[in-house]
Amino acid sequence: MTDRIGPGANLLVTGGAGFIGSELVRQILGRRDGTRVTVLDKLTYAGNRANLAAVETDEEQAARFAFVRGDIADPGVVGPLVTQADAVVNVAAETHVDRSILDPEAFLRTGVIGVHVLLEAVRREAERAKAGERATAPRYLQVSTDEVYGDIPSGHSTESDPFAPRSPYAAAKASSELLVGAYRATFGLDVVTTRGSNTYGPFQHPEKLIPLFTTNALVGEPLPMYGDGMQVRDWLYVSDHAAGIEFVLRHGEAGEAYNVAGARLLPNREVIARLLEATGRDWSLVRTVPDRPGHDRRYAMDGSKLAALGWAPAVDFERGLPDTVAWYRTHPDWVAGARSGDWDSYYARQYGDRLAAGRSVTPLPTEP
Ligand code: NAD
Ligand code: TYD
Repeated sequence: MTDRIGPGANLLVTGGAGFIGSELVRQILGRRDGTRVTVLDKLTYAGNRANLAAVETDEEQAARFAFVRGDIADPGVVGPLVTQADAVVNVAAETHVDRSILDPEAFLRTGVIGVHVLLEAVRREAERAKAGERATAPRYLQVSTDEVYGDIPSGHSTESDPFAPRSPYAAAKASSELLVGAYRATFGLDVVTTRGSNTYGPFQHPEKLIPLFTTNALVGEPLPMYGDGMQVRDWLYVSDHAAGIEFVLRHGEAGEAYNVAGARLLPNREVIARLLEATGRDWSLVRTVPDRPGHDRRYAMDGSKLAALGWAPAVDFERGLPDTVAWYRTHPDWVAGARSGDWDSYYARQYGDRLAAGRSVTPLPTEP
């Protein structure tokens, strides 16, 4: 197995101030193997420089780290950064399905134009490598999602399955992948793709299910469960997702996509039951509210392609979930920061009418 991006490499990580991107940066720099990382991040409502405090306050890591605030759709910012990079890891995206239903445009701007700008910059560097102006062409890794496969009523998605995205978020992610595939076929770029499953852990913006329900439960606010709560997701701990991305960056075959599957398939009601237990609350806090339009009932991925290369997730849900709840319990200032800015207006728009129409939930016989 070749290790294409070894210690000492110069990596450009876009979206590195977000949830998964910052975990990836903390993991890579925390290894202290000489690797240098530049983060390019627009600092949208979801980006938070504080997520990188651990590396910025550590002298040795800070010396190998640079932060650039900017948009991946801006060629003037992207070009010079890609010139210096051995690899580009594109983590940046608009990431919340509910926001993509309310306001799809930003999803397309970043997922289509942004990815196009990154690929054009990589293409230029590949041409410079061919002309002997740099040693090797940069590798490009696209971070994608199981949501490109759409709703999977049974079985597990494999990498060769067709795309069937059903939300503007998923369609933007699938569009990014189509562009990446086209630049591979047409220009021969060294590209790889990861398709991660639903990710949870510290530093996740509280708009997503697990951090929303955790932070609401901790202060006794209602938990808005969409519909019957029997939608199934494949849960992956954030350190595993970041490790899977880095593994594919180093060992993935050019032109290939890899499922980074989670450690556990669970219906939302089961996740909620465990969150209630971990926060010391009961079902009286849970409200069933009008469902998300086009809500995918089930995601499930087959992780055997990545397992065959030698990678599997390490953190199970029994450990990951209580650790996550403990992190949110002990980081109220971070939570307050994430719930500032547009949070109140977003929350009112997304949940105001839903909670007004919400009904109480009776636990299923197996739920505590
Ligand atoms: P996040 O919303 O926490 O972070 C996204 C980051 O990207 C933020 O720091 C934001 O400021 C930045 N960003 C957004 N648009 C940008 C732009 N145009 N230019 C530069 N920076 C920009 O997201 P996350 O949950 O960490 O997800 C990271 C990636 O992983 C995304 O590509 C997402 O589609 C993918 N993914 C996420 C999950 C999940 O469950 N969270 C699962 C599978 C795949
Ligand atoms: P989410 O964390 O938004 O991830 P995704 O939509 O990408 O899977 O949602 C996970 C599941 O939880 C999904 O089935 C929708 C559901 N959900 C709720 O029931 N209520 C909520 O308030 C949110 C945010 C999600």
